[in-house]
Amino acid sequence: MKISVKSGGVSAASADLLVIPVSSEPTKTGREAGPRLPQGVAGLDRGLGGVIAQGLASGDFQGRPDQRMLLYPASKTGQKSIGRILLLGIGDRNALTLDSVRRFAGAATGEARERKLRRLAILAPRARGLRAEACAGALAEGAVLGAYRYDRFKSQSSAARSPGVPTTTLLFDRSEGLSDLRKSAKEAVICAESQNIARDLSNAPGNELPPAGLAREARRVARETGLHCRVIRGAELERGKFSALLAVGSGSVNPPQLIVLEHRGARKGSSGGPLCLVGKGITFDSGGISIKPSAGMGDMKHDMSGAAAVVGALRAAAALNLPAHVVGIIAAAENMPSGTAYRPGDVIRSRSGKTIEVTNTDAEGRVVLADALDYAVKQYKPKAMIDLATLTGAAMIAFGPWATGAMGNDDALLEEIRQAGEETSERMCVIPLLPEHLKEMSSPIADLKNSGAREGGVSTAGAFLQEFVGGTPWAHLDIAGTGWTNRRTPYHRQGATGVGVRMLVAWVRARVQQNA
Ligand code: BES
Ligand code: MN
Ligand code: ZN
Repeated sequence: MKISVKSGGVSAASADLLVIPVSSEPTKTGREAGPRLPQGVAGLDRGLGGVIAQGLASGDFQGRPDQRMLLYPASKTGQKSIGRILLLGIGDRNALTLDSVRRFAGAATGEARERKLRRLAILAPRARGLRAEACAGALAEGAVLGAYRYDRFKSQSSAARSPGVPTTTLLFDRSEGLSDLRKSAKEAVICAESQNIARDLSNAPGNELPPAGLAREARRVARETGLHCRVIRGAELERGKFSALLAVGSGSVNPPQLIVLEHRGARKGSSGGPLCLVGKGITFDSGGISIKPSAGMGDMKHDMSGAAAVVGALRAAAALNLPAHVVGIIAAAENMPSGTAYRPGDVIRSRSGKTIEVTNTDAEGRVVLADALDYAVKQYKPKAMIDLATLTGAAMIAFGPWATGAMGNDDALLEEIRQAGEETSERMCVIPLLPEHLKEMSSPIADLKNSGAREGGVSTAGAFLQEFVGGTPWAHLDIAGTGWTNRRTPYHRQGATGVGVRMLVAWVRARVQQNA
């Protein structure tokens, strides 16, 4: 998406849609004092025949967060061509956060797309307490995320889609530091486009994106950004002893794949292993022989949202040229019931040598991750490792769409992740892993069983995974609740959220700075 940054505020605007942030500060007496227009807008309004003043005089619009008012300047007034003006409420200007800025821009591009408008201009809110560069980044992110649609299967789309994503200009008042604002916006576009690619992957139906399809997409992203990509499948998986991954995939005609993406961006002489990101890539989860109920089963096409986040994060790391060595590892398989499927009661000898009794074929994510984590640890000896997985319905119940469940074996790493989540508004909720959780996963006949009681389902799954990471500093993120949404917000639509990409990029960046 094309986003440019200009100085000169609204006086520089020429657009099909100009979006203006309008605040409403509370007064000392606690009453709402609003709506308040940003500097320079009153002047513009006079040139446009007073359409804004007239709109505000109606009393319909107070400038509350997410409130909207659309206005049409009379066509003959003003020298500048401004087709429509959207007043967008931002509430108390002193309480603005980066996420409210992101939401503001998402609402702007969403509106432009809905109305099929080609040229969009957004006046940047003057947010006290937020750095202008950070604001430019949040605006660009929100704009790219808010313009997202998953419409590739709409037949008339090529005609109806045009003009598609609007060309967007961000208008800032001041001209100092313009190059910094541009740099920040450009990087944010890369990051948000990577997140949209993750959304595309997660939204893709199971028939369109079986494990080999996911591998093909990973290769394409690698080719476009200069990542190294290697795919292990078939006999090579057998030779590599990926028996757990193979077991889960054995019920499907679409064979499993282990996908490795690598960004070798570390400066020469930097010490230690890479940062490893491991993703659950179940391209469709029917539950297998322990089949799921049919209601909502179709949503399980996104059971590869962990994998999608890994692809997105690696793409961003490469495109941003981050000076870090990052390896993404994806365990891709389709979980299907059939005459060749793995069964409840089976015992699998996983790659690590640990045996797993299958008590429920629907607890397949942890089984494929067992092999992927073991491979990551032994092949790459990572400094730190994060896995992302739509692992448990229990995480959805516990945290809803509002937070990702985070756990692991290293408090410092968990704190880094929590912080990266705060910074990017991809919130993390850190929960403990107790010895009792592991005990719940013990089997009478094997080293572990793959499903325990319903109680503490998020943590027992985490405790299972911990058995495969050895001493590697590791965190597990259960994105079952955050990877998919039915709630529309200014920058989310129904469907995949691409959660994890922003947070992971921020985390890798923080790591780079730590080492610098
Ligand atoms: N993919 C599901 C978890 C899931 C549920 C993700 C809802 C997103 C939304 C996972 O493979 C699964 O089926 N987990 C089981 C585990 C149980 C059998 C121990 C679950 O949570 O019910
Ligand atoms: Mn399952
Ligand atoms: Zn699953």
